[in-house]
Amino acid sequence: MSTITKDIRYIGVNDHEIDLFEGMYIVPEGMAYNSYVILDEKTAVMDTADRHFVGEWLGNLKAALEGRKPDYLVVHHMEPDHSSGIEAFAEEYPEAKIVATAKAFTMMKNFTGKDFAERAVVAKEGDRLELGSHTLTFITAPMVHWPEVMMTYDSTDKVLFSADAFGKFGALDAEDEEGWACEARRYYFGIVGKYGAQVQAVLKKAAALDIQIICPLHGPVLNEDLPYYLDLYNTWSAYGVETEGVAVFYTSVYGHTKQAVELLVKQLEEKGCPKVAVTDLARDDMAEAVEDAFRYGRVILATTTYNAEVFPFMREFIEHLTERNFKGRKIGLIENGSWAPTAAKVMKGMLEGCKDLTFTETTVKILSAVSAENEKEIAQLADEILA
Ligand code: FEO
Repeated sequence: MSTITKDIRYIGVNDHEIDLFEGMYIVPEGMAYNSYVILDEKTAVMDTADRHFVGEWLGNLKAALEGRKPDYLVVHHMEPDHSSGIEAFAEEYPEAKIVATAKAFTMMKNFTGKDFAERAVVAKEGDRLELGSHTLTFITAPMVHWPEVMMTYDSTDKVLFSADAFGKFGALDAEDEEGWACEARRYYFGIVGKYGAQVQAVLKKAAALDIQIICPLHGPVLNEDLPYYLDLYNTWSAYGVETEGVAVFYTSVYGHTKQAVELLVKQLEEKGCPKVAVTDLARDDMAEAVEDAFRYGRVILATTTYNAEVFPFMREFIEHLTERNFKGRKIGLIENGSWAPTAAKVMKGMLEGCKDLTFTETTVKILSAVSAENEKEIAQLADEILA
């Protein structure tokens, strides 16, 4: 338990047992499920925890309450990594009210079989809850990350309880040598990348508030340099370019496509490209690849033809991009095929529905191994992607 402000305590838990977060994302540094308590004339608990940690979380809550009883449980998000303690809380504290959006109560019924009707406080956009000296205002945030999500603004301590927004991978007791943005970006694009428009809508509402502290459901409490975090969220949700450079994504079966990539990287570096980020889609973390595609404005896709189609890891990667509304990038393609190359055509076709993509004029077509002609094309591609 730690103190966030005079009246707000942290009561979340760290998870170092998890193998895949949300069944998909590796989290080598674990995960934190954050929860908070506001201690005022009335007490409000903000969210619960993952099912494996409900006992630990209830213990943290009890310690923070120091013998008091909670008056409210505010449920910002019904995904089970935060909502699994609702039933246990309701049993332990039968007099406490539960505050959530109408959609969240529907989900509560679906998850637990109970709608808690006798103690439900249905929150709508702009509704207020007075705790004494603290006034909470509820801000709906649909699709950040599920439709029932809301955030809470405490105008007394100027705290935004931001639900999944501003979260990151990693337990809070793990070292974070790479800095917040690295795992926050992978988290953002993996989990809410599709919903940039909805994140933008919430950021607009947040811009009208005086926010000094952000308390997310994952990752550290943010209490300094807030413009840095807000600016990054604005860039990410607007599908803007965060970092100048070129992101290169490839697959290679016998090393020839990889050789073309290496030649291209050398060309890009010689031509002064500030950063070249290379990903082997068969071996590197797919979620890291996805965040890099959204981080840089210039993207190279290099892959082999496979079953008259495109190599499976490249197909999966492009699907991750298109389902997250990938847009506004410059793309260059390298294909390889020993008898009938189709990869470039297939990749272009897969990206057809994306808005504001431009393609380089040159597409490198390798027929098995990199030829002298390919080397010239690669130099040309480097010029065009940087132009
Ligand atoms: Fe952290 Fe969308 O749950």
